[in-house]
Amino acid sequence: MEKIVILTGAGISAESGLGTFRDEGGLWAQHRIEDVATPEGFARNPALVHGFYNARRMQAGGADPNAAHTALARLQRDWPGEVVIVTQNVDNLHEAGGATRVIHMHGTLSGALCASCEHRWTAPAEMSVGEPCPACRAATARPDIVWFGEMPYHMDQIYDHLAQAGIFAAIGTSGQVYPAAAFVHEAIAAGAQTVELNLEPSVGASSFDQTLLGPATQIVPRWVDDLLGRR
Ligand code: OAD
Repeated sequence: MEKIVILTGAGISAESGLGTFRDEGGLWAQHRIEDVATPEGFARNPALVHGFYNARRMQAGGADPNAAHTALARLQRDWPGEVVIVTQNVDNLHEAGGATRVIHMHGTLSGALCASCEHRWTAPAEMSVGEPCPACRAATARPDIVWFGEMPYHMDQIYDHLAQAGIFAAIGTSGQVYPAAAFVHEAIAAGAQTVELNLEPSVGASSFDQTLLGPATQIVPRWVDDLLGRR
């Protein structure tokens, strides 16, 4: 059975109460990317950056998965082929909704990373400046989040999955951040059918075979029902 590769973005968690980045009033309207989501911003003002991610960690910790997350978990369980979820999101709502194969290409809020020795551990609820790394003791702990200018995680694995995709879906992502925005082209090159599910057409909507518009909690369960119905 065809392999399904699904790319998700902030829009899938919006109805769980987590703000998106580029919608009106979104996170990037309230904070400057250069200040809170770059290595240079962290070097300049680590307290500001920790404060930003501490707030997001607390908000995400109080959020519940929605019908779109649980529908994708159901697809992973019931589809006879492999279903790989690649997410740009740093929350854990796919896993909380029951998904088992989730690749976090932009890291996770639940992780801490030592900028000196690359040791990883579970982040405390509140990270603070000067926190020592449990492995090398350097005071260089940072959130395990991929910032602008850094290479997203697990790229080799993701490109391998895309090269084998029979169906590729992009859900709740504006298609403005690379390399994720170009995954559709990898999938097309592999001969996959492509579908975008979003509140409104993304900047790359014309690249997809099909576009399904609406809130994720409505359109994703319907899409999953259709897929499972035609197998
Ligand atoms: P964006 O905020 O750029 O885009 C969110 C998309 O979700 C938009 O296209 C919205 O139309 C759509 N959307 C909003 N509410 C929705 C709903 N209820 N149902 C379905 N769709 C909805 O977020 P991303 O594309 O995820 O990276 O952003 C990509 C990356 O840019 C993020 O991972 C983050 C950010 O900067 C880093 O921080 C490195």
